[in-house]
Amino acid sequence: MNTKVAVNGYGVIGKRVADAVRAMPDMDLVGVADVATDWRVRTAVGLGITVFAANDDAAAGMTRAGIPVSGTLAELLAEVDVVVDTTPKKVAAANLPLYRSAGVKVVLQGGESHATTGHSFVAQANYATAVGRDTTRVVSCNTTSIVRVLGALQDAGLLARARGVLIRRATDPGEAHQGGIMNTMVPEAAIPSHQGPDARTVRPDLDVVTIAAKAAHTQTHSHFWTLQLTRPASREEVLAALRAAPRIAFVRMADGLTALNTTVELMRDVGRPRGDMWEVAVWEDVLTVEGDEAYLTYQVYNEAIVVPETIDAIRALTGTATDGATSIALTDHVLGMRREFLPAAVPVRD
Ligand SMILES: NC(=O)c1ccc[n+]([C@@H]2O[C@H](COP(=O)([O-])OP(=O)(O)OC[C@H]3O[C@@H](n4cnc5c(N)ncnc54)[C@H](O)[C@@H]3O)[C@@H](O)[C@H]2O)c1
Repeated sequence: MNTKVAVNGYGVIGKRVADAVRAMPDMDLVGVADVATDWRVRTAVGLGITVFAANDDAAAGMTRAGIPVSGTLAELLAEVDVVVDTTPKKVAAANLPLYRSAGVKVVLQGGESHATTGHSFVAQANYATAVGRDTTRVVSCNTTSIVRVLGALQDAGLLARARGVLIRRATDPGEAHQGGIMNTMVPEAAIPSHQGPDARTVRPDLDVVTIAAKAAHTQTHSHFWTLQLTRPASREEVLAALRAAPRIAFVRMADGLTALNTTVELMRDVGRPRGDMWEVAVWEDVLTVEGDEAYLTYQVYNEAIVVPETIDAIRALTGTATDGATSIALTDHVLGMRREFLPAAVPVRD
């Protein structure tokens, strides 16, 4: 029997999770809940998604706006096995008592603290420890990328220490009319920024320090890393370690993919829904290894990277796949995740 899923909060992450749940052969999206009364929720209605009101005020507002409301959040919870809470930061933690009393499993997102669930999740790193739990938290977009990439190098026995600079987008494109910064860059006030310590909620043995800044663009984050390796290694060894891990793709400056916007455009051109990139995109031809140090840069599509992790978290909590590799393979196959986005170049004949 398929796992019945609710999504509470149909925003940037929630609408993507809802679509991914609908695509999975072993899951059914029973409905989404929200408090919005405008085009965002009406879009869900137009897509054939059943809409619930997250509270009484929202029910009244949605009804006034002519949105067909199928019931309350409590009624939605009565019909599902799992709720994915994708409401804004800090709202989700307050919903936990309601979820517990409904007896449903709960997937939270990175806006909540590790302490809210006591478990933080990245599928390739710690799927097994989430199996059968009642709750977990899929870590933030930046943290997910750190665990994927540094975790891959650590699993290969190559990573001793990582020091990184994160340039974050100012706000999401769909919310750019509400705020954001222009013509400046804003360094975070403290070092380490929270992403390094957050990665250790998933992989406690990572030696990682992050420094972050917010920049004046809306799409995607980029990370720049200096890596102390456990021993002198070749560039090929480092690349092989990244290739051995799931959900890391490779892009190249030599292909003209020279900036964040070019990769965004590529995702649109290869037909990704909403132009999403679920993979971490590592610039293969920028990766440099000198003795026992490596330097690399990659791009994080913040609006999408946590979506496959959320799908795997649903399977882990419900125990419908007890093995992380099985869940990852199914999620990645259904979504169409890739290692390369361009066809192999045809060799030049002399
Ligand atoms: N945006 C990103 O790039 C990103 C990346 C990774 C993780 N996250 C995390 O995902 C979570 C959701 O972030 P987002 O960017 O999708 O937020 P968002 O603001 O885009 O969407 C939140 C949605 O929840 C709705 N909402 C607000 N209050 C509600 C309530 N009380 N009950 C039900 N619905 C309510 C809003 O109307 C909106 O549709 C946060 O924890 C965030 O930190 C965000």
